[in-house]
Amino acid sequence: MSYQSEYSKSIETPELFWAEKAADLPWFSQPKTILSKDENGIDRWFADGEMNTCYMAVDYHVEQGRGDQAAMLYDSPVTNTKQTITYSELKDQVSRFAGVLQSKGVEKGDRVVIYMPMIPEAVVAMLAVARLGAIHSVVFGGFAPHELAVRIEDAEPKVIVSASCGIEVAKVLPYKPMVDEAIELSSHKPSSVVVFQREQALAELNNARDCDWSAEMAKAPAVAPVPVKGTDPLYILYTSGTTGKPKGVVRDNGGHATALNYSMKAIYNVKAGDVFWAASDVGWVVGHSYIVYGPLLAGCTTIVYEGKPVRTPDAGAFWRVCEEYKAKILFAAPTAFRAIKKEDPEALEVGKYDLSNLQTIFMAGERLDPPTYDWTIEKTGKPVVDHWWQTETGWAICGNLMGVEPMPPKPGSATLPSPGFNVQIVDEAGNELPAGVQGSIAIKLPLPPSCLPTVWGDFERFKSGYLSDVEGFYTSGDGGYKDEDGYVFIMGRTDDVINVAGHRLSTGEMEEIVAAHNAVAECAVIGIQEQLKGQEPIGLVILKDGVDISNEQLEAELVASIRKEIGPIACFKRALIVKRLPKTRSGKILRKLLRQIADGQEYTVPSTIDDPASLPEIEGIMREHGMISG
Ligand code: COA
Ligand code: AMP
Repeated sequence: MSYQSEYSKSIETPELFWAEKAADLPWFSQPKTILSKDENGIDRWFADGEMNTCYMAVDYHVEQGRGDQAAMLYDSPVTNTKQTITYSELKDQVSRFAGVLQSKGVEKGDRVVIYMPMIPEAVVAMLAVARLGAIHSVVFGGFAPHELAVRIEDAEPKVIVSASCGIEVAKVLPYKPMVDEAIELSSHKPSSVVVFQREQALAELNNARDCDWSAEMAKAPAVAPVPVKGTDPLYILYTSGTTGKPKGVVRDNGGHATALNYSMKAIYNVKAGDVFWAASDVGWVVGHSYIVYGPLLAGCTTIVYEGKPVRTPDAGAFWRVCEEYKAKILFAAPTAFRAIKKEDPEALEVGKYDLSNLQTIFMAGERLDPPTYDWTIEKTGKPVVDHWWQTETGWAICGNLMGVEPMPPKPGSATLPSPGFNVQIVDEAGNELPAGVQGSIAIKLPLPPSCLPTVWGDFERFKSGYLSDVEGFYTSGDGGYKDEDGYVFIMGRTDDVINVAGHRLSTGEMEEIVAAHNAVAECAVIGIQEQLKGQEPIGLVILKDGVDISNEQLEAELVASIRKEIGPIACFKRALIVKRLPKTRSGKILRKLLRQIADGQEYTVPSTIDDPASLPEIEGIMREHGMISG
């Protein structure tokens, strides 16, 4: 099978193509309606199919005789723990935890928020929610109580599942007080909080709604999978948009299972029994798709790694895990490899481990810069695949189909569109641009299975944010171009979303927090290039008249409030007091221009600028403070 014939079939006869892929899965009742419109006029996949994602990912493999195969390998250098969980054991734990949730009143369609570190119980909780036909919403542990509260408020969960603590290298971070604070902040109150106690910091169960994971499990009955429709939601995953309010990306059951199962073979070239390692976190989409659902749907063994690429204990951590578990695939963000490269530039650690089982290294989450790409290939001798995707799609929009026909890679490119994604580069009026010309990256409708059908509770936001720019297209929010061979080059976001260490964050949200400081009259938060983490946010601030505060003090206070409101992962470390900000005559701050200045890029002064003299002035201040790269 060639890439071209696979891709053409998916675009020319999408229903035929995806019906075939869906038939690879064990539905309770195979879908007959492949593509239809919902009440909002949105394309939906497999509306009349009956299924259960947890059954497909767990029970089915036990029925197929893979019960004794490892489903999950837990490796935690931060607690010195290793654990193997077979498919049979996973089925037992998941069906009993579904019993726990059921005893707390969780039914089909109810929401459950999961706020947990990288431990097997996080995966068990996700699958148990899916087993009941309920909807999980996992919140990344690096988010502060306020962010958790915003998600609780929006998703209105019946139950929150958490752990007593997370562990960041050597720091033990108690989670339960953060859960309590978030519930306090939210007007919606869950009726139960289930806490998995970890010995590194036991949580106080001090509220009538609190209960202990292990005690509940000991008395819980095993619950069978509840059938759902293909279009019923499996989860909500909040992601940063351009405002302070995160968007609840909704994922359905049928399209998601079909696309992920297909991707395991087509993109990653793995089969049942292979070991797959996505070194991410279950709080991100990569974790949802390729720590949990993709590998388990395909009957692989997934690795749950509670550690970092460096410091746990050293820059050999990734290679050690690959050797020890015979991982066939390693998938991580470029920033992780930059961190390894920084500590071990000659890759002496690589030589200490046997990587003969490792087939391919995949990277995503942010732009893969050619030096990191070249270094990884040179030092490991393995093919490296850059693939581009978003929380909204749940799987790669562009990549290299290693299981169909590997195409010659081009550094800096995420290769070619995945089947089902009709990717086009368009200008502001929606006209397709010729090869080599940069524009906005749009995907022609219908989107393939797994892509979001709405934003939770806010269809208008989905429509205005993604479907309104160009009639008949989904707007990705990324800019880039295609070359003569159709290879896609992703050049970065066209909005106020930034990527810090592979974490998607909103500068708009940070701006709201900076603006709330009582010394601040006006401000802009922009993402600037940073060597290790790709981008970092910086704040440019105009003080209110008459305010007397040093740059140092203001910076410290702003750093503290962003850590408190968003969390440490925002990596907001620098703020600068300026006299003016470049604006258009209508008063809009020229953020793109500020980014270009900070990144040392050439820029043209727009004709709409109100005060051109503000540019050299701000450039001077930024240079003085070492905020200009290039
Ligand atoms: N829970 C609580 N806090 C967390 C956290 C979590 N799950 N993850 C990160 N943090 C905290 C860190 O402890 C740090 O806090 P500090 O400022 O108090 O030190 C802060 O958030 C920033 O963390 P991070 O960006 O991870 O920086 P780092 O210096 O600890 O590590 C890397 C740098 C490159 C090793 C790390 O960012 C990394 O592994 N990145 C890959 C990310 C990834 O896999 N993304 C998923 C997309 S595929
Ligand atoms: P997230 O939704 O957190 O996965 O972030 C999605 C965003 O990350 C995309 O819109 C891109 O801006 C960026 N991104 C993800 N993968 C890549 C990639 N391979 N190359 C360039 N940018 C990427």
